[in-house]
Amino acid sequence: MLKVKPVAPERLPELLRRMPKAELHMHIEGSLEPELMFALARRNGLTLPYADVEALRSAYVFDDLQSFLDIYHAGTRVLRTEQDFYDMAHAYLVRAAADKVLHAEIFFDTQTHTSHGVAADVAVRGLHRACVDARAEFGISTGLILCFLRHLSEREALECLEQVLPQRELLLGVGLASSEVGHPPEKFARVFARARALGLRLVAHAGEEGPPAYIWSALDVLKVERIDHGVQAVQDAALMARLAHDRIPLTVCPLSNLKLRVFPTLNAHNLWRLMDAGIVATINSDDPAYFGGYINQNFIQTFAALGLNAQHAWQLASNSFEASFIDPAPKRQYAEQLQAFFETFV
Ligand code: ADE
Ligand code: ZN
Repeated sequence: MLKVKPVAPERLPELLRRMPKAELHMHIEGSLEPELMFALARRNGLTLPYADVEALRSAYVFDDLQSFLDIYHAGTRVLRTEQDFYDMAHAYLVRAAADKVLHAEIFFDTQTHTSHGVAADVAVRGLHRACVDARAEFGISTGLILCFLRHLSEREALECLEQVLPQRELLLGVGLASSEVGHPPEKFARVFARARALGLRLVAHAGEEGPPAYIWSALDVLKVERIDHGVQAVQDAALMARLAHDRIPLTVCPLSNLKLRVFPTLNAHNLWRLMDAGIVATINSDDPAYFGGYINQNFIQTFAALGLNAQHAWQLASNSFEASFIDPAPKRQYAEQLQAFFETFV
């Protein structure tokens, strides 16, 4: 562990903005800003059920995960062509690079698009091309993680996996997203086993709204390497000990938890409890266009609300690289870059 020099509270936002970091939990469809949504609707000859950007943005008030998912799915209807997926991903990667994200692992869900008549390979090709270009433009490294929609059946998830097999080499891994409660991880045991046999990396949303039992089964049945959200783990001491002992990372999304009312206020967020328990927690943006901020806003607002300091900043950034699926050599380089940043930050 690096022992970090104290930083005055008024300089913490600058430190957080400039600090190298990885983002491991963001849904690319959740980065579709209202301006781009209107532009894509126009380009594709579609009409949105909102008068303008302001009217759309003012609809972004949610009671829970499901109320968000309904609006999120409606927004994806404007995505029709490979270029649409490219433009959406490029816009996110410009923002991420500006936030000093050196590496991003990006979720996408083809089942949403195939249900609108858009073939899975259209999405994969557009997203991949944006990732290749962003590497050249900004030096940012990326990976694409296909999320199965858990409110649908396992048979549909298996079909979804089959559809992307011709592009297997463009994928880093698979995940599990959408409505959590009532759709436990074990429902997807076979499709995760198949993905594992294909050499794909495995993650799953668990313990966002759902109980600790869903985190246990994501680990023990699906054999995931990382848990997305996982904040409900604090209800189960044995689970907390398991996560810390096995260094299973949690990709925590504080502004998402606030907007979806997992916590009533940011001050009530349990990130510090996860960190105090020695869990490899990270900070991420989830669906930044809907939840009021990209990764740096998540860092800045959470640090202010919880009174976190520069030592926590180093820990969270260090965790983000440790928790990533980057190869060992570049992972070491990112860790060195992070250490150099903290040693020279004045
Ligand atoms: N899909 C997009 N954002 C999500 C979230 N926070 N939880 C589950 N599924 C999602
Ligand atoms: Zn998510």
